[in-house]
Amino acid sequence: MPNKKIILSGMRPTGKLHLGHWAGALENWVALQNGGGYSNYHLIADYHALTTNIDTSDIHAFSLEMVLDWLSAGIDPEVSPVFRQSQIKEHTELHLVFSMLITTARLERNPTLKEQVRDLELGPMSYGYLGYPVLQAADILLYKGEVVPVGEDQLSHVEITREIARDFNRQYGQVFPEPAAKLTKFARLPGLDGKKMSKSLNNAILLSDPPDEVNKKMKKAVTDPQKIRKGDPGRPDICLVFTYHKKFNPSEEDEIRKGCESGSLGCVDCKMRAAEKINIFLEPFRERRKKYESEPEKLDKILRDGEERARAVASQTMSDVHKAMKLG
Ligand code: TRP
Repeated sequence: MPNKKIILSGMRPTGKLHLGHWAGALENWVALQNGGGYSNYHLIADYHALTTNIDTSDIHAFSLEMVLDWLSAGIDPEVSPVFRQSQIKEHTELHLVFSMLITTARLERNPTLKEQVRDLELGPMSYGYLGYPVLQAADILLYKGEVVPVGEDQLSHVEITREIARDFNRQYGQVFPEPAAKLTKFARLPGLDGKKMSKSLNNAILLSDPPDEVNKKMKKAVTDPQKIRKGDPGRPDICLVFTYHKKFNPSEEDEIRKGCESGSLGCVDCKMRAAEKINIFLEPFRERRKKYESEPEKLDKILRDGEERARAVASQTMSDVHKAMKLG
């Protein structure tokens, strides 16, 4: 579409999404989709999932769960194509071309890779895993993506994408934009234990949690350890529940701060007030989810339709690439 900036973003299909995914990236996807000046593409990075786990038995179910969360959050598939990376062969073609434009030394320096190798205790690294950011560069540039709304953990991958775009253009002529990452204000929402919110740490509020589950989880949230009972003064700035108020209850932020600091507001009440706001926030998600859940065959159609539209763009870009490279 003329004059619209292209947005490309995606996620690995890890199943149900949580508030951290919303606050870190999804919120921007929806806002930019609805802002009018952008044309969004959203990819399910199912090949990327293989880099850390070659067992594919859950990928399909996880992909559908994730798409359902995207749609419930307000992604409109008629406006913004959603599609699986594995169903568009141009991702692998462009990945191969790009893999010639970057050194293994550069990829070994990728900080995300270093962190994961340390934290996940992965065994010996596969060839494909080293190339993770190269595949991501292909994902983005295949659609000539200009804006990449992601969480802050993805910045190093967007930087590699920019380098590859620059090197390709220098070598073969101008084909690709140099995309910019776009972060949200609340890039890191803490989980219920104060660590980064993550499904595997069991500290997450899911976008699909019903109201009583949200209440139950919130009751267990960790608060300022010095505030033991109502009346004790608390420190909102070190309390994760206060972060939730800032995010989901900004109009009462000052009042909550005062109540916490003076001691007049107890932690149980404070948590229940946050839970209530989170539930109000999630209500439209639940409505949209119900609509899509009542017609499960529609999800397949949404993907097939998104894949058709994505494929048309991808094949045009590959023909630009071949032309620039004087291949074919
Ligand atoms: N690496 C991203 C993540 O782990 C997923 C991803 C794959 C992606 N391809 C992308 C994100 C392209 C943005 C653009 O969440």
